[in-house]
Amino acid sequence: MPNLFSPYTLKDVTLRNRIAVSPMTMYRSKDGLVSDYHIMMYGSRAAGGFGLVFPEQLAISPEGRTSIGCGGIYNDEQIPGLKRVTSIIKEMGGIAGIQLGHTGRKSSEVKPWEGHVQLPPDHPNGWQVVGPSPIPYGGRYTYPVHELTRDDIKRIHRDYAQAARRAYEAGFEWMELHFAHGYLASSFFSPISNQRTDEYGGSVENRLRFLLEALDAVRETWPERLPLTMRLGCDDLNDAGIQVDHAIYGINRMKEHGLDLADISFGYNTDELTETPFAEMAFMVERASRIKRETGIPIACSWNLGLPSVADQVVREGLVDVVLLGRPALANPHWPLWAARELGGVEDTFGLLPQDWAFWLRNFRSHDSCIGWPLVETPAVQEVKAA
Ligand SMILES: Cc1cc2nc3c(=O)[nH]c(=O)nc-3n(C[C@H](O)[C@H](O)[C@H](O)COP(=O)(O)O)c2cc1C
Repeated sequence: MPNLFSPYTLKDVTLRNRIAVSPMTMYRSKDGLVSDYHIMMYGSRAAGGFGLVFPEQLAISPEGRTSIGCGGIYNDEQIPGLKRVTSIIKEMGGIAGIQLGHTGRKSSEVKPWEGHVQLPPDHPNGWQVVGPSPIPYGGRYTYPVHELTRDDIKRIHRDYAQAARRAYEAGFEWMELHFAHGYLASSFFSPISNQRTDEYGGSVENRLRFLLEALDAVRETWPERLPLTMRLGCDDLNDAGIQVDHAIYGINRMKEHGLDLADISFGYNTDELTETPFAEMAFMVERASRIKRETGIPIACSWNLGLPSVADQVVREGLVDVVLLGRPALANPHWPLWAARELGGVEDTFGLLPQDWAFWLRNFRSHDSCIGWPLVETPAVQEVKAA
């Protein structure tokens, strides 16, 4: 029975454990390029023991970025910086994953902490947003949406293929396509945002077409031996939107197009929600495990899995194959080491760290309570705390 710290093999790639840094947009790029910040951010998480490390969504085109400060993989000049990211992750024992995406009608934003509003198309830091239908998301995304033509769609799929080629050249070993969160692919899948009357709209099969064609385009340039995965918005939490049944149908079809694993998340194609489970522990697991049961596909899942006992339990019970951590990975770059020490039962916890650090921690023993965590409540510690 695997646990959180069991290795995980998919295609020719083996993760040292089931713990991944979930993709998180950092709004720290200029011209879509990575900087020292990104090397620090992702290198430190690999050094902290994460088996799989995703940088933020990397956009397949400039207008596919969420904001002007977001990362991209839309020209060859972006490859050398990304190579530095993948090589530090590798050197620290992790596998470098990439999330390719296009933010669609939710793009052209300002940084969240600078207002979190959409910029108009004529603003120097904004652009014309695109989608399957000319329907703005609403709320803070107010500007008109350009309805993509068939030629536009073909061009976007070429962008996917070229981005996947660059991803391979940059040294990424695990591919995830972003088909969630109301971004372009998700907006094609959702009947709320997709009201087309051509072969890309209407039935579930038609709404899935953009996603299947993206998978096919990526497969052209992404090697067969490396994992091809995607994050699917499986539920819009709205009766008029994507339902889990649609996701099950879609994933079965994607399996026929070479999908190796599904990372389950929400659709977020509307702010009008029938439920708001966001503060509940492990709330996505029920949907994810149902999808695993009904499609047989390996599953990754995030959302409130940062308590070590819960993360371990969902793997032990066979509900989830890979646990993705977003906010916990922001808060604690050494989350895997912390979890191993909290849970106990992991043979060589310091083996999660780079070998030189592990050497010192194993051989240059300190007081058990002076490593950091968890605090061991020895009588000596209690005495110090009481004083
Ligand atoms: C700052 C931030 C940026 C995020 N950016 C992305 C992103 O680029 N792509 C994506 O699929 N999800 C993104 N997410 C969602 C996370 O990947 C993750 O699914 C979510 O935070 C739930 O996991 P958690 O409960 O462990 O934080 C982001 C989340 C945060 C907090």
